[in-house]
Amino acid sequence: MVGNPKLRQNCWVLDDVLPLDHRIPERYLAAAPEGVVQNFCNLLSRDVYSEGDAQSLYSYVMARQGEMSAPFLTMLELWLADELKHYEALRRTYHSLAGVDFADMDRHFAARHHEFEPLQVALADEFTLLVTLMFDEIGSVYSYRRDLKEYYRHFGQNIERIGHHLVKDEGMHFNNAAEVLLACHRHRFSEVKGFLEKISRLESSLKTYYKTFFLDHAQEQHRFPQPFNQVISRVILARLGLGQRPSAAELKHLWQWVPEGYSLVPISPDRPAG
Ligand SMILES: [Fe+2]
Ligand SMILES: [Fe+2]
Repeated sequence: MVGNPKLRQNCWVLDDVLPLDHRIPERYLAAAPEGVVQNFCNLLSRDVYSEGDAQSLYSYVMARQGEMSAPFLTMLELWLADELKHYEALRRTYHSLAGVDFADMDRHFAARHHEFEPLQVALADEFTLLVTLMFDEIGSVYSYRRDLKEYYRHFGQNIERIGHHLVKDEGMHFNNAAEVLLACHRHRFSEVKGFLEKISRLESSLKTYYKTFFLDHAQEQHRFPQPFNQVISRVILARLGLGQRPSAAELKHLWQWVPEGYSLVPISPDRPAG
């Protein structure tokens, strides 16, 4: 190991941003552009639970904690606290938008089945976990940026602030994973590029999300431009000092692109939320 990774956390208090009993004022629901309320409900019906799935990934890793380094485990504690805050933040957002009962969400979450077997490539060791985490977190940065622009900003300051915190937190998770890789895994940096290609292929082949936190974008790929994985892989390589960062225009395209003929990428309700 070379030096200590500089781990950072975006500190914010959920109760200050979105109180438990918050309801979205009627005027925002009435003023939202056509399709936005329904699409946002469909989006939240999946996103709420995939944030909560962080707990199952954490438990899976902790069952193997003897294999993991101290900096990685420290990073994971910060990460879990944030992800569970995201879970609660999205529960409150969903409740305030659609009136879904917290008890119903609890029941739904408890019934989820978390399958790790399809993700064995990502779970091989600390190095693969960290690179997959970088891939997942930077993907979340750009997808939440899109969600903020298309959804969160339409529903008042509280909800908009949640969107901003999500983007910022996921960016810090990406950075913290990079810091642990730089501190503890430089000897494996020749594998990063090939491994990212493997993860990207795995994501395309999965077609569905296995409720283990990783690769949850497998269920939303139609919302993103085709070179998405290739561009975020280059962001990862650049952060590790292994390549050139994509241009500002390429990065903007990741969250501003919409398919020809659409002003808003539709989000279907047909995939079960569980
Ligand atoms: Fe998150
Ligand atoms: Fe995250």
